Amino acid sequence: PYVISDPCITSRDRACVDVCPVDCIYEGSGRLWIHPTECIDCGACEAVCPVSAIYYVDADHPTDDLTEAHEFFDTVLPGREAPLGSPRGAAKVGPLATDLPRLLAAGAAAA
Ligand code: F3S
Ligand code: F3S
Repeated sequence: PYVISDPCITSRDRACVDVCPVDCIYEGSGRLWIHPTECIDCGACEAVCPVSAIYYVDADHPTDDLTEAHEFFDTVLPGREAPLGSPRGAAKVGPLATDLPRLLAAGAAAA
């Protein structure tokens, strides 16, 4: 799948959200996250990100960004009662008021 990396934290441009044909880019309070199993590898998002935060990862050779993306969807984020799982549509989920603890700490440090 494609993944988003930390340059998104300060930009949060959201151009990627508008071009994704399957609406699989979800908005955490720290940055945005591509759903690793909902993404169909079309690559449209990578081309439009102004800070080049998006890149392709082979699932057999995961990077830290892919590992974190799985965590974002598969674990219980602070303030939530259940994992996000696979909602199959970011628009209906909307912006989340939480993120992985590492991203929440980064936001607190920037504020
Ligand atoms: Fe972030 Fe780039 Fe999308 S800055 S919100 S990954 S267009
Ligand atoms: Fe969407 Fe980007 Fe995947 S546009 S389908 S998240 S490659």
